[in-house]
Amino acid sequence: MERYVIRGGHPLVGEVTIGGAKNAALGIIAAAIMTTDPVRIENIPDVTDTEVLLKAEKGIGVKVDHEDRHTVIIDSSKLNSTFIDDEYMKKIRASYYFVGALLGRDKRAEVPLPGGCNIGVRGIDQHIKGFRALGAKVNIAHGCISAEAKELHGAHIFFDKVSVGATINVMMAASLAAGRTVIENAAKEPHVVDIANFLNSMGANIRGAGTDVIRIRGVERLHGTDYAIIPDQIEAGTYMAAVAACQGDMVIKNVIPKHLECITAKLSEIGCQITEFDDAVQVTRYEPLSSTQVRTLPYPGFPTDMQPQITVALGLAQGISIVTESIFDNRFKYVDELIRLGASIKVENNMALITGVSKYTGAGIVAPDLRAGAALVLAGLAAEGETVIDDISYVERGYEDFDAKLRDLGADIVKVSSEWEYEKTKLRLVE
Ligand code: UD1
Repeated sequence: MERYVIRGGHPLVGEVTIGGAKNAALGIIAAAIMTTDPVRIENIPDVTDTEVLLKAEKGIGVKVDHEDRHTVIIDSSKLNSTFIDDEYMKKIRASYYFVGALLGRDKRAEVPLPGGCNIGVRGIDQHIKGFRALGAKVNIAHGCISAEAKELHGAHIFFDKVSVGATINVMMAASLAAGRTVIENAAKEPHVVDIANFLNSMGANIRGAGTDVIRIRGVERLHGTDYAIIPDQIEAGTYMAAVAACQGDMVIKNVIPKHLECITAKLSEIGCQITEFDDAVQVTRYEPLSSTQVRTLPYPGFPTDMQPQITVALGLAQGISIVTESIFDNRFKYVDELIRLGASIKVENNMALITGVSKYTGAGIVAPDLRAGAALVLAGLAAEGETVIDDISYVERGYEDFDAKLRDLGADIVKVSSEWEYEKTKLRLVE
């Protein structure tokens, strides 16, 4: 099992370049099979989640050619099944995007029910409601969701809750439905907009993505395209929070500063200096942090995927902070691990009451999910002494070259895959 061995206490100084948005890539990789023409996609992050999705496509006859590490050409002219049967698919939430994509393309789909991060119940009732409104019969049996329609027709859909996945999924299927679809109470996240832009570049007619109301005029067919994915808001935010937790001076390149405003605002409030450039932000922090209150909300609110990272920084802020999680019902599981590093945090229901401590101290901990895993790495980097983090495969689902990028910023972090390699790091630490 791979683990990170970290020797904390080094400020992070230098430059880091952010990759393509993982969550946009997942939707775009799935939507790419909605045409029989080749689709070229640039800026795909090389992480486990995207790898798994591309592998699943190969399993149904799709040709996937890697032009380079971050560029693929997807050719689904020889797609031979609408049944995705892949062991790994159950592990990732975004497997459900194949329902929208295949339902749009072939009017039928069967996909294993989504897994993903262990952060609470993650319903799919809104996806089902949307597909049914478009005229599909949807069934859940034997761990799979299946959807089928003679023909899809446009519909007026009002989501009962804001859901990123349901918005994207229904947008995909509705692009190839007959007539007009209106999605109300739509999610507005940057990757919803990116996937809409991608579909439009394939000939779809989607208007209003990025607002509460998305209007889609169904088209008969989609065609090939050449598209570059937007930078990853959460990867960028994680490095910003890393400066807050560890101190330092970092230039974070290849970002869209507008997408980071909710994070920038909170980090400035607690004592980080942030300068925005056209496609970069600079974060500096050497003075003590001050406490604040954070509530996670759908975009443009503070992202739930940044909740563990800001909590790690606030654990080191003077005074009492409150973090309220309003999107997922079980997203504080990592707090026990953080307490092992010396944090003083009390969780009640969906609220964490954080009393800032002057330092964390290293210990052996376990990554419970993707974003919490990344947050615990930040805590380890800030902590005095050695921290060993197990189960880092979670982190690698969403962060490309996390350890290497951090090393370039001056962090002392290595990835080891055996006891022997771990023993070797001890020698390195003694040197
Ligand atoms: C996406 C992101 C994830 C992020 C989340 C919220 C991807 C691949 N993942 O996940 O990283 O944390 O948005 O920003 O893009 N819900 C229902 N019924 C539904 C759909 C959702 O009850 O049919 C609930 C969920 O359980 C959750 C909340 O709505 O409590 C938000 O979920 P949603 O926005 O759908 O998140 P995901 O698309 O799964």
